[in-house]
Amino acid sequence: MKESVDFSHFKDCRVFVTGHTGFKGAWLCFWLNQLGAKVYGYSLPPAYPGSVFERVDLGSTMDGEFSDVRDSVRLSAAMRAFEPEILFHLAAQPLVRAAYDDPKYTFDVNVGGAVNLLEAVRATPSLKSVVFVTSDKCYRNKEWVWGYRETDELGGKDPYSASKACAELVFSSYVDSFLAVRRDLGIATVRAGNVIGGGDWSPNRIVPDCLRALLSDQPIVLRSPHATRPWQHVLEPLGGYMRLALLLARDPGRFGGSWNFGPGSDSINTVLALVEKIVADWGKGQIRTEIDPNAPHESGLLQLSIDKARLELDWKPRWGFGQTVSETVAWYRRVEAGESAAAVTAGQIRTYESSVRA
Ligand SMILES: NC(=O)c1ccc[n+]([C@@H]2O[C@H](COP(=O)([O-])OP(=O)(O)OC[C@H]3O[C@@H](n4cnc5c(N)ncnc54)[C@H](O)[C@@H]3O)[C@@H](O)[C@H]2O)c1
Repeated sequence: MKESVDFSHFKDCRVFVTGHTGFKGAWLCFWLNQLGAKVYGYSLPPAYPGSVFERVDLGSTMDGEFSDVRDSVRLSAAMRAFEPEILFHLAAQPLVRAAYDDPKYTFDVNVGGAVNLLEAVRATPSLKSVVFVTSDKCYRNKEWVWGYRETDELGGKDPYSASKACAELVFSSYVDSFLAVRRDLGIATVRAGNVIGGGDWSPNRIVPDCLRALLSDQPIVLRSPHATRPWQHVLEPLGGYMRLALLLARDPGRFGGSWNFGPGSDSINTVLALVEKIVADWGKGQIRTEIDPNAPHESGLLQLSIDKARLELDWKPRWGFGQTVSETVAWYRRVEAGESAAAVTAGQIRTYESSVRA
């Protein structure tokens, strides 16, 4: 049965977001703000100058605090005090390379933080819906061509992937042991990957690396030009998370579990194809290939099966590869040219919303 979901339900809804200063979290909070939600963020301060959080001035348009998810007492207190109905958990150390550099920190934040988050959920009876973000990398990568389904085996060779698989196990254990008895609480993990969009400045991510090069008139250096990835615009999974959050509150028993939110198959492309499209949209730029034989192991293609979300949530990707890249480049170009980031972001959200209605 198709479920109709109306985002106007977010109006006046109390929403707690961890990771609100990050790339995905800032887009999510901005969107929720536009819908009239009362949003409270819990994260570390923004890590990169020019972040979406700063550019759209989220600090003055929503409540929140700069605190650590490793601080269990503080996280529980903040959540209980705000009395949220909906929770989105995005706070994490999300970078594969950084996890090789500091695996302990990555496990502390991504796994220890997950434990603390779920303890806070236990202590917060106002919650009706929890969307817990992990990653497509939570699946054991068998280097096969088929899409991974929500029931496939978890695992991860590198510390980041393993931390996300562990977070999934922690989540299941808390649901089975403590949370399943709360019949009025819908709770799910969500798995997406290779998200692109305006305002990401993280190190060692391909789009920010391109923009840093283009803005300083340097060549874009590619170390794995033929790596193939499923690219998707940040609004796609966020729209899925928001849809799921409302459905979880409506029917916890039916929508609890795990959900993949990946792109359509036309969005699976090489790094080189992505960068060539970025350069074409930017209007100029050079590409240079320098294969690094000592680069740490990164998984091969890992794509998600999105049949479950299509059939049960009536969610599907709306923007193909071309539009995904064009909207991403347009955001950076227009904001760097001095347009208001809030206006550009709001405009892209409106365009996306009309693609969903079309
Ligand atoms: N961007 C992607 O392509 C992608 C792909 C798959 C999964 N994810 C997941 O989505 C989520 C958001 O990713 P993103 O790309 O926005 O990352 P990001 O680095 O831009 O944001 C991470 C957020 O987590 C917060 N955070 C990190 N450590 C923290 C700590 N110790 N205490 C409190 N807050 C902390 C940061 O302050 C920031 O707000 C993460 O869980 C990530 O693993 C992202």
